[in-house]
Amino acid sequence: MGKLWDNKVSRRRLLGGAAATSAALPVLHELIPHQSLHGGISPAEAAVEHHRMAHRGSAHLGAVGHVDPKANGFDPQVILRDFDEGRVRGGVREWDILAEEKEIEVAPGVKYAAWVYNGRVPGPTLRAKEGERLRINFTNAATHPHTMHFHGIHRALMDGIPTVGAGNVEAGESTVYEFDATPFGLHLYHCHSTPLAEHIAKGLYGAFIIDPKAGRPPADELVMVMNGFDTNFDRSNEIYAVNTVAFEYMDRPVRVKRGELVRVYLVNVTEFDPINSFHVHANFFDFFPTGTRLEPRDYTDTVVMGQGERGILELRFPYTGKYMFHAHVSEFAELGWMGFFEVTG
Ligand code: CU
Ligand code: CU
Repeated sequence: MGKLWDNKVSRRRLLGGAAATSAALPVLHELIPHQSLHGGISPAEAAVEHHRMAHRGSAHLGAVGHVDPKANGFDPQVILRDFDEGRVRGGVREWDILAEEKEIEVAPGVKYAAWVYNGRVPGPTLRAKEGERLRINFTNAATHPHTMHFHGIHRALMDGIPTVGAGNVEAGESTVYEFDATPFGLHLYHCHSTPLAEHIAKGLYGAFIIDPKAGRPPADELVMVMNGFDTNFDRSNEIYAVNTVAFEYMDRPVRVKRGELVRVYLVNVTEFDPINSFHVHANFFDFFPTGTRLEPRDYTDTVVMGQGERGILELRFPYTGKYMFHAHVSEFAELGWMGFFEVTG
């Protein structure tokens, strides 16, 4: 009982309570409106804008400072639209994946000793077409054994778990995983060495997209991997994010076009918490669980996911402006998992 309470207190200290001690840490701060007034807004919208300007002193949760993507070696802004199709050789689609250890910054001033695939968290978004033969040349350049376990349909020998097939790939060793791209949909891959929670929590995961043979309608496609970071090793997360960096899309909103089809590949890999969720403000989306059917299951504004669950969201923004999206688990939102879409005309 005391432990839970302590956890909450220490989490709060990390973000909210840090204000007095270090301006470099994420703190409550005033969100200065970056958005200029758009032409042709209604009197009601103008009134809201006036109200917002008049109350700009009120506190909103966010981060002070900014995580330097160069120091991290990856940029959540790039990860959004970065699809790694590998290379095709002799009819086989192939990738080279390297596991390494790397210190990354997950919120301004908050460093985390991560384990990474190809230098980034989440690892590269691997993308293939239904029915292709895939080959992953995996090298473990870290000091612990690791694997790559893919969701999908394949032989046991290619499942990337300890004791079966290549099993654990020891430090300095390599293996090759080979299987067919099936079924189409949105999947994921992650390390499956033990202790499993640690290997996932450290950052060894990524999105894995198999496009249906006929493709999907053209869209502005975005990858969002919901994750968390246990920065004090108490087996609960102190930081939550989409694509690793807390409050990233508060500082630099996801820019999309009014009326354009936006397709979000949403994956939940959050360790230690039973659920995570995604909620978008002032809009609704079609939801395709696991992306394995071409007809949406839901038309909604909120989706809840356990670890390993994922799905495709399709939506269009009818109006310009800034629209929040965040975990509808309020604590996660306050600890980093919130952002904005910025819709331009
Ligand atoms: Cu591992
Ligand atoms: Cu899994």
